[in-house]
Amino acid sequence: MIQSPICEIFGIKYPIFQGGMAWISDARLASAVSLGGGAGLISAMNAGADYVRGEIRKCRESVGSLIFGVNIMLMSPFADDIAQLVVDEKVPLVTTGAGLPSKYMPAWTAAGIKTAPVVPSVAVAKKAAKLGASAIIAEGGESGGHVGDLTTMALVPQVADAVDIPVLAAGGVADGRGVAAAFMLGARGVQCGTRFLTATECNVHRNYKDKILAAKDIDTIVTGKSLGHPVRSLKNAFSRRFFEMEYDNTLSKEAIEAFGAGSLRKAAVEGDVTDGSVMAGQIAALVKDEAPAAEIISRIFSEAENILRGASEWIK
Ligand SMILES: Cc1cc2nc3c(=O)[nH]c(=O)nc-3n(C[C@H](O)[C@H](O)[C@H](O)COP(=O)(O)O)c2cc1C
Repeated sequence: MIQSPICEIFGIKYPIFQGGMAWISDARLASAVSLGGGAGLISAMNAGADYVRGEIRKCRESVGSLIFGVNIMLMSPFADDIAQLVVDEKVPLVTTGAGLPSKYMPAWTAAGIKTAPVVPSVAVAKKAAKLGASAIIAEGGESGGHVGDLTTMALVPQVADAVDIPVLAAGGVADGRGVAAAFMLGARGVQCGTRFLTATECNVHRNYKDKILAAKDIDTIVTGKSLGHPVRSLKNAFSRRFFEMEYDNTLSKEAIEAFGAGSLRKAAVEGDVTDGSVMAGQIAALVKDEAPAAEIISRIFSEAENILRGASEWIK
């Protein structure tokens, strides 16, 4: 077994979080991951409290006393409501994206909620640690969804040096080699998003899963950089058009934003993988099969253990 402070802090068997994925990571996927020995995260995305409360209750019913969490996108118009909801519902774990949860941290800490902000840089990691976070998720730009500039390879060791709480590496991890590499970079756990898109319990549309299974190494593209919120997704008619539009000086920012609105839902829920946004990381090409979340996790960690055990052979 891999020994990690992440397992002790969060009470999990394997040091792995399933990253929050808007329109995708609902109670079904989150509970499957928690039951499989990791920490499953329900995505609060831009949803209101009623939806999120329902998912929290379903997840709790399924996992019992095991840990699970809610991922809060801080730019959501309902962020204040969800921040209060996790306290009221005694959710054990909160991860956050798109900023720092400064104004919510005192209430979460008082409620005994464990917190792990997702960060794209050393400066933000330091601030999150100062706020009293339980761990830091350092997310490199290889990842699917909203991305920062730095790669996982460059970001993780720098964050690990900068903070004195454990770091989870996110972005580009989908097998045991990724976990072993993350540990070598100073992380003590990982967060995966793309790998869980083809979990049996993932409710994302069949067409979306098929696109992931067919993806090649160079099939992702980052759009939205010029608008200040870069997103990585698979190349298709939508992302190519978005890319052209954002560098077309005749178009207003509003027109481009309007073109992108609702695009993830279109692909993930409606299955329109041509005109919707199929968000996925660069590691999508390594995702070759569908399997139950528990099997994905145990396979990743048995591979990682073998690699880490074998590493001493490299030293004479
Ligand atoms: C389809 C998709 C949607 C995502 N939505 C969110 C989100 O709502 N909130 C968030 O913090 N991160 C989001 N992410 C990022 C993941 O939580 C995770 O950090 C990332 O996928 C890790 O990199 P990987 O894709 O290489 O595994 C999303 C990722 C994907 C692939």
